[in-house]
Amino acid sequence: MTDDKGPGDDKPETTIVAAGRMSDAHFGAVNTPVYRASTILFPSLAALENRTQEYPYGRRGTPTSRSLEEAICTLEGGARTVLVPSGLNACATAILAVAGAGDHLLMLDSCYEPSRDFCDKVLARFGVETSYYPPTADITPYLKPNTKAVFCESPGSLTFEMQDIPAIARIAHAHGASVLMDNTWATPLLFPALAHGVDLSIQAVTKYIGGHADVNMGAITANKDHAARLVQYHGTTGLACGGDDIFLALRGLRTMAVRLKRHQETAMKLALWLQARPEVTRILYPALPGDPGHALWKRDFKGACGLFGFELKPAPKAAVAAFVDGLAHFGIGWSWGGFESLISPAHIKRTVSSFPAEGPILRIHAGLEDADDLIADLDKGLARLKEHR
Ligand SMILES: Cc1ncc(COP(=O)(O)O)c(C=O)c1O
Repeated sequence: MTDDKGPGDDKPETTIVAAGRMSDAHFGAVNTPVYRASTILFPSLAALENRTQEYPYGRRGTPTSRSLEEAICTLEGGARTVLVPSGLNACATAILAVAGAGDHLLMLDSCYEPSRDFCDKVLARFGVETSYYPPTADITPYLKPNTKAVFCESPGSLTFEMQDIPAIARIAHAHGASVLMDNTWATPLLFPALAHGVDLSIQAVTKYIGGHADVNMGAITANKDHAARLVQYHGTTGLACGGDDIFLALRGLRTMAVRLKRHQETAMKLALWLQARPEVTRILYPALPGDPGHALWKRDFKGACGLFGFELKPAPKAAVAAFVDGLAHFGIGWSWGGFESLISPAHIKRTVSSFPAEGPILRIHAGLEDADDLIADLDKGLARLKEHR
């Protein structure tokens, strides 16, 4: 991979189709085949000892993993991308690649909750202190002399508050801290994080890159200054993904641009419809005019994905269950980014800021189904909610 290469003159929709392909090395096959390799043979003792071979050992990479890394790296405009077995591991790996004993990590209060658990339950054991900042605050008063990294996620995947990433990056960098961002909601297509000052951009490949609810994987892309540390940490801790999973992720990636457009279109239709309903207090979706984060979203983002939240007017648990349980087209599940619609409750955990809500907050992932069918399903659901009030 070349240093900090940008997507060149091509539009991202073109890059996503072309990047990382190696047809010449694979008899013209459009897709890089699945290499299932642990042992890789050398032609001679000298070749083994001189480490001249591009792929010396399966854990260190194969053409399959290199294809996905190259494709994501090109989209991100980074220097290096590494693959890890889950999105959560990508968050952990990015943090561990930059922070060590005695360092302080500044983490947003609206982060993906398992990332919080990792900081509180694992990082703390290794002498890295974590403290939290309100996601929309100026980070200056929260920095400490030993702050090594500032972690961002914009918007947060439960409360959807937008962060001013360029401002955070300016302040963090002036302080000598690195900026890490879980950019799963926007993907590099909708928010090129590195170009906005982020040093390590994190993707839960599990979501939109995979896109089909059948693979768990993560990716971290580093800018030039952070590439060596990332690659060293990744290699020495033995992180690797299986060829079959990588193939699925590569296959998903190629169609992500068109899928995201449809996810956004449908999410917007559902959000506008829900906004007009008397059972709904508010919508949490920065792409929606009037959302508190809309101006930032409009300034920095090129689009939105299909994930948004909404707050219902206060309702008994049984009424919410009647609404959710009877939905025909929305699966009840924690994930998002696949082709299918999902709904889940938002259990919000904060420690330094509040997110006041009087009624229950639900999260929808708008899938690729017909929007009118989804709306009809929600309409029947809200009728059930009313009946059980
Ligand atoms: C914002 C965000 N980051 C990271 C992850 C973790 O991804 P994975 O499930 O692959 O560990 C998730 C999963 O829901 C997520 O929502």
